[in-house]
Amino acid sequence: MTVRAYINTNKDRFLTELLDLLRIPSVSADPKFKQDVQHAAEFVKQSLEMAGVDVAEICQTAGYPIVYGEKIVDPDAPTVLVYGHYDVQPADPYELWESPPFEPVIKKTEEHPEGAIFARGSADDKGQFYMHVKAFESMLAENQLACNIKFMIEGEEEVGSENLDMFVKANKEKLKADVVLISDTSMISLEHPSVTVGLRGLAYMQVEVTGPNRDLHSGTYGGAVANPINVLCKMIASLHDEQHRITIPGFYDEVEEYDAAYREQLNKAPFDEAEYKNKLDIAETSGEAGYSTIERVGIRPTLDVNGIWGGYIGEGAKTVLPSKAYAKVSMRLVPNQDHKVIALLFEQHLKAIAPASVKVKVVPHHGGQAAVVPTDSIGYHAAEAAIEEAFGKKAIPTREGGSIPITSLFQRELGLDPILMGFGLDTDAIHSPNEHYGVKNYFMGIETIALFFKHFSKMYVKR
Ligand code: BES
Ligand code: MN
Ligand code: MN
Repeated sequence: MTVRAYINTNKDRFLTELLDLLRIPSVSADPKFKQDVQHAAEFVKQSLEMAGVDVAEICQTAGYPIVYGEKIVDPDAPTVLVYGHYDVQPADPYELWESPPFEPVIKKTEEHPEGAIFARGSADDKGQFYMHVKAFESMLAENQLACNIKFMIEGEEEVGSENLDMFVKANKEKLKADVVLISDTSMISLEHPSVTVGLRGLAYMQVEVTGPNRDLHSGTYGGAVANPINVLCKMIASLHDEQHRITIPGFYDEVEEYDAAYREQLNKAPFDEAEYKNKLDIAETSGEAGYSTIERVGIRPTLDVNGIWGGYIGEGAKTVLPSKAYAKVSMRLVPNQDHKVIALLFEQHLKAIAPASVKVKVVPHHGGQAAVVPTDSIGYHAAEAAIEEAFGKKAIPTREGGSIPITSLFQRELGLDPILMGFGLDTDAIHSPNEHYGVKNYFMGIETIALFFKHFSKMYVKR
């Protein structure tokens, strides 16, 4: 049988197994799901064993474990290191889900006329890393596995991969490979397959503004004592100018600027602004002056409030001048901006602009550097060839706005450029209620991944 025929013959089982994995609520951010996250790691280990790895291990870390697996077919063959994550984002708010987040159902949608799997983690990233397990099983079963394979599937991606750094540094020999292959990004569409060649970095901050030492009556004190929520809002509003540029001094110092030719090439990717607005029900897009939507997301940095709170938000009205106000702010970064430097600039600036009537505390959460994938490597060419063979179309290189902080870790520590070959769509609602993943995307992904191995082994020249 061909690998393709094997995939076709086993379609139902490949889908059922994924649905079983999606039933495990492996939310890494919430300690309430601790058992479930551990359970998901077990499930992944067993899946790797069933698929035919020689070695499958649960590697403990200070946090959630990393599942490692390998199959060495030939010491002289090239090695592909597959990275993915079995943890998922919290499913909140539950009431906005049309079906329960951990009870997967398949429904047709406009983008997925052949059906999509609705469940938290279906696209990010369980449905995507599981394609690699099934592609591996199919190649092995048909005696077509032309590369050695190593799996590293972690459980803390959605909370910043804090323990991965140490694991990678301590296991360089074990993780030795010729390419890293990751499916944790999107493609433009099945009609316009694409490969991600850039991801943004991230600096995530929490701000706490303190006014008076206790909540006050907003009549007795209002007008005479600074209200920390008012102050915080004003400070945040001042962080963008009229051109929607970020006003933090030094913020743009290291930003990589691209020439007209590169920008033109980026803007050639199929993109329908009217449809984009329509799908989001917005009258206009908004962002830095002088840049297109594709550029604003792909090559420009941002600053966004992710949450803001304080004071009274319960039923009815309570007159209160709160003691404290909080905000969570994320900055998406582009190549050459260092997330630690940006975090520092942010903190200094907020302290500098705060009026003497309040105290400001800034706590950095996780961060990560942006990543750029060179397009002249064997890995990239293998991805292009695989996509061309599976889809009958040339892959379009795209720069995406999301972040996978570990990509720069692989570049730095293992000297490997990751190949970002994802099969999700931007409309799959990752991190949102009703996350879903196209059934066709799942199977096309399995097929394309197997073709990647074939082309990579052919193109590879031993170093
Ligand atoms: N898979 C996403 C990253 C992603 C999303 C890349 C869409 C490209 C397109 C990943 O799981 C994720 O959510 N990353 C976080 C950062 C992390 C440190 C929590 C992000 O981008 O917010
Ligand atoms: Mn992900
Ligand atoms: Mn995610």
